[in-house]
Amino acid sequence: MKFQTSLFHYIVFLSAALAGGSWVLAGEIKAEQYEHARWHPMHFEPAIDQATDEQCLSCHREILDRKVLDQSPAGVKASEALAWYQTLNTYEGPQETFHRRHLVTPLAKNLMDMKCTTCHQGNNPREEAPIPPDVAMTDFTLRKMVDPETCLMCHGRNPYERMGLPGPWAESRETFQNNCLLCHAGIRTNRHRVNYLKAEAIEELGTKDADICYGCHGGRQWYRIAYPYPRHAWQGMGEEVPEWAKDRPTESQPRFRITQEQASK
Ligand code: HEC
Ligand code: HEC
Ligand code: HEC
Ligand code: HEC
Ligand code: HEC
Repeated sequence: MKFQTSLFHYIVFLSAALAGGSWVLAGEIKAEQYEHARWHPMHFEPAIDQATDEQCLSCHREILDRKVLDQSPAGVKASEALAWYQTLNTYEGPQETFHRRHLVTPLAKNLMDMKCTTCHQGNNPREEAPIPPDVAMTDFTLRKMVDPETCLMCHGRNPYERMGLPGPWAESRETFQNNCLLCHAGIRTNRHRVNYLKAEAIEELGTKDADICYGCHGGRQWYRIAYPYPRHAWQGMGEEVPEWAKDRPTESQPRFRITQEQASK
């Protein structure tokens, strides 16, 4: 049905173009198709939950194709600009776009398996913002389809006090042989079993280089707060739950849990 409509549009477009002087009509049809695509149900609940990357990319190829500018309008060359976090020794290759850094750079591919919908959860266009403004209603993401909570999981502060470290990792790492696994081979070992991470690969690479772990737990910190991670039970865990952990979930968010179907792949 859809195909027929677009074929029909194409024929109208073509005949309009051939007829000459009817460009206005062609323009109108194009605008209409654009609006159709823009408001495609796939952008919203519930369809977005089932969408695959291929489906999103069939209209949004530019997300993976786009390149950063060679130089900024002020003349700073991309190849000469390095941000502080880009000095982590896991940082590789030339400057890349935000989307490519999370989907296709070597590090992203090794450690993660993010989908478009890991970040893009859709929104309800009728609910742009509560009117009048209400600080208690924190569910609104103001038409932004991406909830910043998602970013916090990998770009939060390193909660070194909670771990009993004497100071921030940058200062205390030498004391612990620059090795997170000195403690984490036995503590909170049931980790990263979610559908957007590659749990085995993270352990393997993290054993060789603590910057792999630190990279998602303080090494690329965009927030002043730490993410309140779910606290999964682990083998050898003490029976008493510490005060700070009393309100923590003990499982990952439902949308991130690995389903049986995913597990059997
Ligand atoms: C049928 C084509 C089509 C499909 C499929 C599609 N989009 Fe879009 N999308 C559009 C168009 C057209 C726009 C308007 C874009 C513009 O003006 O640049 C848009 C806009 C967006 C925007 C910007 C929204 C805003 O309010 O500024 C995001 C984010 C987005 N799409 C993500 C997705 C994701 C994620 C998927 C898959 C779940 C998806 N799209 C599937 C065509 C599509
Ligand atoms: C790491 C999280 C993340 C992933 C994964 C992700 N996006 Fe985005 N995307 C964002 C953020 C953040 C924005 C800025 C939008 C905002 O302010 O709400 C954005 C913006 C966009 C936009 C509109 C602006 C632009 O750059 O054109 C489109 C379209 C889009 N994303 C499509 C996609 C598609 C398609 C995929 C999967 C191939 C994808 N995104 C994967 C976080 C992500
Ligand atoms: C599952 C973990 C994860 C999530 C969730 C995540 N990131 Fe990242 N982010 C990374 C990793 C890993 C890198 C480094 C990739 C590399 O070096 O190739 C990175 C890199 C970045 C960079 C640096 C890009 C560059 O070119 O230097 C920015 C900015 C960023 N993330 C912002 C965000 C934002 C905003 C969100 C939420 C929309 C987000 N991230 C969600 C793991 C994550
Ligand atoms: C001296 C031992 C030690 C070292 C070294 C250490 N940790 Fe921890 N870590 C802990 C303890 C103890 C906890 C809290 C355990 C609990 O839940 O009772 C913890 C908790 C965590 C948590 C969960 C925090 C929360 O709020 O739920 C993360 C994430 C974490 N560590 C990551 C790291 C990373 C990454 C490194 C290396 C950069 C590291 N740790 C180094 C002992 C350590
Ligand atoms: C690509 C980003 C990324 C890397 C690399 C990474 N983590 Fe994590 N870590 C996360 C995310 C996201 C979560 C929360 C997952 C969830 O919701 O269950 C997490 C959770 C944890 C937790 C809490 C465990 C629980 O569920 O009780 C600990 C501890 C932890 N990580 C330690 C480490 C250590 C040690 C390394 C290196 C071997 C490491 N992380 C590498 C992103 C990362």
